[in-house]
Amino acid sequence: MTQQSDPARNATTDSTSGPTADSVGQAYELFSEAGATTALGGNIHVGYWDDDQDLPIAEATDRLTDLVAERLAPQPGQRLLDVGCGNGLPALRIAQRRRVRVTGITVSRPQVEQASREADGSEARGLVDFQFADAMKLPYEDGSFEGAWAIESLLHMPDQSAALAEIHRVVRPGGRLVVADLCQRQPFTGEDRSVLDGMVRAYEIAGINTPDEHRAHLAEAGWELLELTDIGEQVRASYRHVSATFRELATTLDGFAAEQITEAADLMEAFGRHPHAGYLLITAQRS
Ligand SMILES: C[S@@+](CC[C@H](N)C(=O)[O-])C[C@H]1O[C@@H](n2cnc3c(N)ncnc32)[C@H](O)[C@@H]1O
Repeated sequence: MTQQSDPARNATTDSTSGPTADSVGQAYELFSEAGATTALGGNIHVGYWDDDQDLPIAEATDRLTDLVAERLAPQPGQRLLDVGCGNGLPALRIAQRRRVRVTGITVSRPQVEQASREADGSEARGLVDFQFADAMKLPYEDGSFEGAWAIESLLHMPDQSAALAEIHRVVRPGGRLVVADLCQRQPFTGEDRSVLDGMVRAYEIAGINTPDEHRAHLAEAGWELLELTDIGEQVRASYRHVSATFRELATTLDGFAAEQITEAADLMEAFGRHPHAGYLLITAQRS
């Protein structure tokens, strides 16, 4: 959610140019303080359901992580970069199951701390590390990683092409990048535009791409596209789960905070119901 409730915290946000790495980090701090990360069972991404709509949200979100790992197809011992690692759950799961080393980066310091705590108590201890870093300016040498993934982080970045170029630089030739992200199947226009604009405003989003925009950003950064699949229908139930949890949370908050989280829930639900709301799984390769 945005940090609109506290103008002092808004100092780094230029409302005319959208989110910055700082404003996104602050938004996740508020998100976490409000207890909103529980909405998705610890992961901060959508769940995936085939025919099993009864699958609990925590398992469904882990399934999305597994789909990303399948596409990365890493070899044990390889070093991977998790771009926008959240609380570290996807990195821990992939490190543990695939026996790979993972560096997770985020623009939220509390997320770095929480992910590091989670790692300490897990079987992935020693395989993962979490750092505060901006994907648009990565603090790593060329070719430091054998692969990378970005789950629902690109949409926060004001310059996605720069981030994709940076990831391209730090991944070795032949390495893969898997992106999981929201998309507009077709541009939201007319009255529907307010749903998209509301989402962008409420969730510190820089932009939700069309599939063609995703393709163009990847190509511009030098990535070869291997696969782009819209799994929007398999993730759609997530928006309902999240908005229901946000509404429950609202009952525990006071005045303005309750109003804000209720508005965020309404927008999430409206976006999730919209036929133009898609979700892409993209696999690309560095040549
Ligand atoms: C929706 S959360 C997804 C978290 C995690 N990938 C998951 O699936 O649980 C978005 C994440 O992207 C991170 N992020 C946003 N902009 C970033 C940037 N410029 N550089 C690095 N991380 C960024 C946020 O800090 C947050 O951790």
